[in-house]
Amino acid sequence: PSFASDIEAILALKRERNAVILAHNYQTPEIFHTVADIVGDSLALAREAAKSNADVIVLAGVHFMAETAKLLNPEKTVLIPDMEAGCSLAESITAEDVRELRKRHPGVPVVTYVNTSAAVKAESDICCTSGNAKKVIASLGVDRVIMLPDEFLAQNTAAQMPDIEIITWKGHCEVHERFTPQDIRDVRESYPDVVVLAHPEAPPEVVAEADFAGSTARMAEFVGEKRPSRVALITECSMSDNVAALYPEIEFVRPCNLCPHMKRITLPKIRQALEQRRHEVTIDPAVAEKARLAVERMLAVG
Ligand code: 13P
Ligand code: SF4
Repeated sequence: PSFASDIEAILALKRERNAVILAHNYQTPEIFHTVADIVGDSLALAREAAKSNADVIVLAGVHFMAETAKLLNPEKTVLIPDMEAGCSLAESITAEDVRELRKRHPGVPVVTYVNTSAAVKAESDICCTSGNAKKVIASLGVDRVIMLPDEFLAQNTAAQMPDIEIITWKGHCEVHERFTPQDIRDVRESYPDVVVLAHPEAPPEVVAEADFAGSTARMAEFVGEKRPSRVALITECSMSDNVAALYPEIEFVRPCNLCPHMKRITLPKIRQALEQRRHEVTIDPAVAEKARLAVERMLAVG
């Protein structure tokens, strides 16, 4: 398809509205490499949202990312091009579940993955992403934490922090839970020289078969620094497409899985979002006040 007219319209609308587009690494290349002002992992998008001077922030990503941007910019207009762009992790837990967990484990701090609703963040002590989970947990100086809602991220983090007991929740990313160790063995059999990078939302037995595990930004950095001749990114499919566009000499081999929520965001919907100032993300002020603290504590860890 031809994207030229949408791209041109979006670039003009951004200037007119003093808007920026923050795009996650799982957005398609025609968004990622054309209209996006800032691209990155969840942590980078949260950091950049906190610094923004724009009047309008369009979040090309999923709803929890737009909520995080709104928490950090309560007076700005934050738009998401499709309100239905959710996340199986965010869906896996409610604020009431967190209150119950606290009752069961009194005094144990709650570390919450950013892939959650503002209401869940509001019940938490501090947030984390897959890019800073270890640092955030270490910053608490305790030997027991509740880490929710991603069971696999919690288990993969616990494997690197043997002195800390991590109590988990049974949330999973519907994209990463589908990978199996056999997927990696198959790719290695076809390409013995392949370097395999996995996202820590994948099950621990999958991460164990990989050469490196890290957030989407860490994977992109790894490829940029090491320049392997062949690489498999065990994550969402657009990630490979976006990094491959930067390094034509590197061969990117599959498997990959698509995130149906990320794929709801398209160029025509971004254009409509800017034209019609929709869909505006709003958060109950009482919830926002508490949720913001948890996100700001995370950002302060650095
Ligand atoms: P990161 O980009 O922070 O690694 O997160 C991956 C993800 O699944 C976001 O939805
Ligand atoms: Fe959620 Fe997984 Fe999709 Fe990320 S890739 S938005 S964690 S379902």
